[in-house]
Formats: sequence, structure tokens, C-alpha cells
Amino acid sequence: MTHQGSSISSKSVSVIIPTYQEAGSLPTLLDRIAAIRDSGCDLEVIVVDDDSRDGTEELFERRNNPWERLIVRRTERGLSSAVLRGMDESNHDVLLVMDADGSHPPEAIPAMAQALRDGADFSVGSRYVPGGSTEDGWGVLRWVNSKIATVMARPFTSVRDPMSGFFCIARSTWKAGAELDPIGYKIGLELIVKCRCVNVVEVPIHFSTRREGESKLTLKVQWEYLLHIISLCRFKYPRLSSFLPFALVGLSGIAVYVGLLAVLGTFWSSDETAWLRILVAVLLTMTWNFAWDRRLAFWDARGSIVRQYFGFVAVCAIPLLVTYFATYFFARSGEDTGGFGLPTAGLVGSVIGSAFGLVFNWFCNRWLVFRQGK
Ligand code: GDD
Ligand code: MN
Repeated sequence: MTHQGSSISSKSVSVIIPTYQEAGSLPTLLDRIAAIRDSGCDLEVIVVDDDSRDGTEELFERRNNPWERLIVRRTERGLSSAVLRGMDESNHDVLLVMDADGSHPPEAIPAMAQALRDGADFSVGSRYVPGGSTEDGWGVLRWVNSKIATVMARPFTSVRDPMSGFFCIARSTWKAGAELDPIGYKIGLELIVKCRCVNVVEVPIHFSTRREGESKLTLKVQWEYLLHIISLCRFKYPRLSSFLPFALVGLSGIAVYVGLLAVLGTFWSSDETAWLRILVAVLLTMTWNFAWDRRLAFWDARGSIVRQYFGFVAVCAIPLLVTYFATYFFARSGEDTGGFGLPTAGLVGSVIGSAFGLVFNWFCNRWLVFRQGK
């Protein structure tokens, strides 16, 4: 993406703060932000609260400052969608997001905004660059958790602290990006990837432990993070995210096929109907593969499932033919030299057929059967 940061001249910043039950932390934070404002950084504050009913609304009525706005969402819930709502309601060219609990020092706001004016696509308040730190008192569990989450974000960005909820992006960069999926907690990572931010600057911060209230980082949040990583993979590496599950489903199909033959053989063992057992096992395995491929490899396909199913089966028929003719060929060439028995020829034939099918089926399914929507 072109670096739009350099075109930002405005010194005004919209500070967006998602809150849930943060009435205890807000007064101190708002005062610290007001001090930044007094020191010459023009800013507005937008707090997006999810109906906490803990005195947050009364606090804003009391403070009654024109640059401090409260939006209360009565029906919607969730950190990321709250951040997006705040961005929608904001007025300035520079958008900055931070936590309410005092973990993120508002004193870093001017430097983070300046980074964008200096040409960055995105800036992050970072614990993991020289000069940054984390307050003691983080349990081992939370630390390990944070490290694992950071490593999982590696394929998308080389930022040291991509999990940070303290970040800054230009309105124009946000608007030029792809549609956002407000799943889970990591809206910062989502923005870096979907808005194709290349030049990300990390501003060192000291990350404080919250003094009031408690963290909302639950097991559910971690599960959502996993789903979020998958959706980012599909966005950034669409071919790989389709081919890899396709190959794994194919592998599972071998196990299903062999298992079915064994099970069918136990109660239906007459030799004359062996061909029928094989046929049933092949059809069931194809259906198994179809169901999983449709979900995992071709998740974005449009169109009728019936048409997809018959397309899938038709495509499968071709590697089966390749297997048949390869087996036949090696069995025949074995006859001449006397070295190839039918089982060996079958093995060679099926390996060739499977390798061919892996590539051929994926391409045909991707381009002909499971066509993507516009
Ligand atoms: N509106 C709204 N709705 N706000 C929420 C919600 C919600 O459902 N859940 C959490 N928040 C607000 C909190 O009130 C707080 O201001 C901020 O989002 C972060 O929530 P915390 O509960 O304090 O999160 P955390 O400290 O566990 O995680 C923070 O640090 C992580 C890095 O260690 C966040 O900044 C994460 O984004 C960050 O990855
Ligand atoms: Mn916190």
C-alpha cells in the first residue's frame, strides 16, 4: 500500500476507548488525557461502553467536557466491534485506540500520532522494543499465553507486540483497507493485516498492571483468537489456506477408506460382492472428503451443494482412471520383465494416481466446482 501517513498534516487525534465496567479507572485516565490535551495536542475522546451500568454514564454527565463523548451500546457486545463503532463516530484523521484500565500510558499518544505523520502506516504502543517494559506481577500463565499468541501472529506481521490494544492508524489507511471482521480481541492485528500496513512503528511503552476492576480476557477470548488467526490466514494466504486442508482431508480419506473396507468386510465377506464393497467404500469416502473439503478448503464457495457434489465426484473420477491405467501399465510392463506383480503395480499406480489427484483435484475443484463469489 502507498504510504498515506506522510499526507497527514492534521494534529488532531481521536482517542477511542472501549469499556466494560471501567468506571473505577476512567476518571484518572480521562484526567491524564486532558493533561495531554492541555499541553497542546488537540484531541477528542470517544468512550464506547457496553451498557456497564456502573456509573460510567453519570461520570460523563458530571465531567461534561465537550471533547469527551460517551457512546453506550445497549444491545451489542464485544471489544472489537466497540472499537469499530468508536472509529465510525470519530472526527479526526488520526485514530488512536487504548484500554481504559490504565495499562496504556496516554503520555505516549503524541509520539504515536507523530509516527503516522512521519510516514508510518500504523503505530503501536509496544512492550517488547528497547525502552518498553511490562510491570511485574504478570503471572507465568498470562506471560506464556501472551507469548504463544504473539508467535501465532508471526506469519502476518513482524511487529514485536502485535497483540497490543494500544495503537494508532490514519483514517485514510483504515478506509482503504478490506472489510473488517470484528471477531475476538485483536482488532489491532486485524487492522494491520486487512489494511495492508507495511510500515509499522513501535513506540516503547511501560505496560502497567490494572489497578481497578478485572481483565475480560477469558477462555472464550482465546478460542476466538484461534478463529481469528484462521480467518487472517484465509485473507492473507488464500491458496495455501485452501490447499493445506485439502491435502490433510485427502490423507484422512485414506484412513476412512481402509477403515470402511475393514468394517464392511466383517459382516459382508462374500468374494463375489467384493467389487460392491469397494464401490460403497469409495462413494462414502468421496462424500466424507466432499463434506470436509467444502467446509475447510473451499469455505468461500458459492452455488448449489448438489451441483458441487456431482462436480466433486466427476473430478475424482479422473485420478481414479489414472490409477487404473498406471496400475495396468506397470502390471503389463512387469509381465515382460517378470518383475512386477499386480500388488506392486497397484501400489505404484495408486501412489501416482494420488499424487496426480492431489494437484489436479485441487485445481479443478477450486476453479470449476467450488467457485468463489464476487
Ligand atoms: N465496549 C467493550 N466491550 N469494551 C470491552 C469489552 C467489551 O466486550 N471487553 C473488554 N473491553 C475493554 C475493557 O474495558 C478495557 O478497557 C479494554 O477493553 C481491554 O480489556 P481488558 O480486560 O483490560 O483486557 P486485557 O488487559 O486482558 O488485554 C489487554 O492487553 C492485551 C495485551 O496483553 C488488551 O489491550 C488486549 O487487546 C491486549 O492484547
Ligand atoms: Mn487490561
